[in-house]
Amino acid sequence: MKKSLTEIANHFGTDKGTEGPSQKWNPHNYTDIYEPYLDNFRESHINFLEIGLGVTGKNWRADIVHGKNSGGASIKMWYEYFSNAKIFGIDINECSYLDNDRIKTFVIDQGTIKQLDYFMEKSGIDEFDIIIDDGSHIPDHQQTSLSYFFKKLKKGGLYIIEDLLDNGIGDNKSGRMSSNKVVNTRNVLKQFYLTGKFSTPNMLSDEAYLASNIEWIRFHAPEKSIKYKLGKSIFHPIGKKYYYKKDSEKVCVIKKK
Ligand SMILES: C[S@@+](CC[C@H](N)C(=O)[O-])C[C@H]1O[C@@H](n2cnc3c(N)ncnc32)[C@H](O)[C@@H]1O
Repeated sequence: MKKSLTEIANHFGTDKGTEGPSQKWNPHNYTDIYEPYLDNFRESHINFLEIGLGVTGKNWRADIVHGKNSGGASIKMWYEYFSNAKIFGIDINECSYLDNDRIKTFVIDQGTIKQLDYFMEKSGIDEFDIIIDDGSHIPDHQQTSLSYFFKKLKKGGLYIIEDLLDNGIGDNKSGRMSSNKVVNTRNVLKQFYLTGKFSTPNMLSDEAYLASNIEWIRFHAPEKSIKYKLGKSIFHPIGKKYYYKKDSEKVCVIKKK
């Protein structure tokens, strides 16, 4: 029997699965969400791109590289899962040691258009079937990459953004993944989903192209929380009642018309 995407993820130690690189790491279990979307493509001769490969180096400290994960766990997973795909990866850290007969990596900053143009020229690919953004998670970068690469996606293709965080204007977050220039990417896309208009300020270019070429967006992996009620003087949990927190989804899948 063929292995599931989650089993392959766990073998290589990407946190997209249910185990991650080690017990110290919180895995996301995105792969159980992805497999129904990806199964139809499994044996197809597709062009696949991942942004952000989980490789450590001088440009970014990728803490995920430890335990079972010797670097590039997710691209190794895609290689095994998509048995006939051409697989491209971009990262700001050098990782050509991952290249093989069907994998090709490039040192590219996902937030710099000139570098994205360079990547497209060198890849020799006009359009991708599936693109997944697991790079810096900075909203500016996610939105720049979405605007750029949505135009390079085939009709009917899928664009996935991982780790939609509360890290934009108004979220009061600081650190290497936060932005004080744009609204967080979940909010930008949910507004579009709900109203047909993207929240601003954002880093999207050619919103009209996006608006007229998005067939649908699905949001997944909302956070769970315990329900609290006010006790005599402190908050305390009511038994073990959980609810899904509104607007906390971590992943979205976007289909192109
Ligand atoms: C969360 S890790 C990716 C994990 C990997 N996809 C996995 O599932 O195992 C994020 C990666 O994004 C890369 N990265 C950070 N900033 C970037 C940028 N501006 N452009 C491209 N890659 C970037 C980091 O070097 C790191 O390898």
